[in-house]
Amino acid sequence: MERQAQPRVLLGVGGGIAAYKSCELVRRLRDAGCEVRVVMTRGGAAFVTPLSFQALSGQPVRVDLLDAEAESGMDHIALARWADRVVIAPATADLIARLAAGLADDLLTTLCLATEAPILLAPAMNRVMWEHPATQANHRLLEQRGVRMVGPESGGQACGETGAGRMAEPRSILHALLGSASGPLTGQRVLITAGPTQEPIDPVRFIGNRSSGRMGVALAAAARDAGAEVRLVHGPLGVPLPAGVQAVAADTAEAMHAAVLEHLEGVDLFIGAAAVADYRPRAPADQKLKKDAPGMTVELVRTPDILADVAARRPRPFVVGFAAETTRLRENARAKMERKGVDMIAANDVSAGRAIGRQENSLVVLWPGGERLFPEQPKGDLAHALIALIAARMAGDAEADTN
Ligand code: C5P
Repeated sequence: MERQAQPRVLLGVGGGIAAYKSCELVRRLRDAGCEVRVVMTRGGAAFVTPLSFQALSGQPVRVDLLDAEAESGMDHIALARWADRVVIAPATADLIARLAAGLADDLLTTLCLATEAPILLAPAMNRVMWEHPATQANHRLLEQRGVRMVGPESGGQACGETGAGRMAEPRSILHALLGSASGPLTGQRVLITAGPTQEPIDPVRFIGNRSSGRMGVALAAAARDAGAEVRLVHGPLGVPLPAGVQAVAADTAEAMHAAVLEHLEGVDLFIGAAAVADYRPRAPADQKLKKDAPGMTVELVRTPDILADVAARRPRPFVVGFAAETTRLRENARAKMERKGVDMIAANDVSAGRAIGRQENSLVVLWPGGERLFPEQPKGDLAHALIALIAARMAGDAEADTN
């Protein structure tokens, strides 16, 4: 295959535990055809040895500014000129502050002042440090100067806290740096439903379910990373919306159905990941219901099946559905795939609190004549693997048939 000319990337590694993830970033950059040179801060070199980055990048790694031997090779100005892109991962609170102040007190900050290449930062730090007004002000100032940011993401942190401050995953950094020109869904339009629906009983009560929308949101981010133009039609989510995705809020099954049909034209791939209510109260009360009677009956009527309606359209996109089952996973899912006329179905076992609302999941993915098992893993990883499989099936890749 002919290799595209890829930018020369200068990777700066700051002093944070996320530095270990930057090893994978180097590997992915090289796989994408980039030449990579690594510069570490002293703190970065305390977390991961320069030798690791030297082995991965195939180039000497620099740490010190005043290193006479290294400066006699490619000096810091030559290195600043060499780079087509600069990416700093992890960018710690201290590094962000020094960059905002325009300091040049080590090699990495000096390079950032001396380069004309665009700079991308992947912040990573403890949640409280990230939320501190000083860090936020430095972050804003750098953005105003044209420095781009990827992340931080929310979730569990190495320090034991949960919140914003996790470094973006290497694949997201790669996407932010190189764009989507080489992803398997480049140029494709993808429409995804996510989250629960809430079917009103009266103005304050509803029938809902335990879905957080995490899987659908992860799929939207994965499709975006694969180069697609993504629209996400979502119910009330328990997780943040991903950046770079067009979001359309739709709280009820009927609103979601209408929003999907409105945005279906030109769509290449539809993924129904929402936990859509199958029934809704026939006549929601206009006023809040009183508890005068000893009991009450709410009459329910069926909601439209969004997935089946999309699959029945002609022409139609490649259609992927989900099946949450508590018994006979494969049989029920395969029957559902045939009944709804979809191209692929991702089945998960939701017995005993598995999958729904959780961070991890496993899936059995079925299609006519094949299947693949994805073992238990974080939903973000699962989403990327599933998107890769869907893209391969859409492209008619026979290899995707083998397990
Ligand atoms: O029939 P069941 O609800 O088990 O099917 C699940 C699949 O169908 C999921 O992909 C879900 O998003 C979709 N669905 C839908 N509209 C409904 C019910 C389910 O799109 N009303």
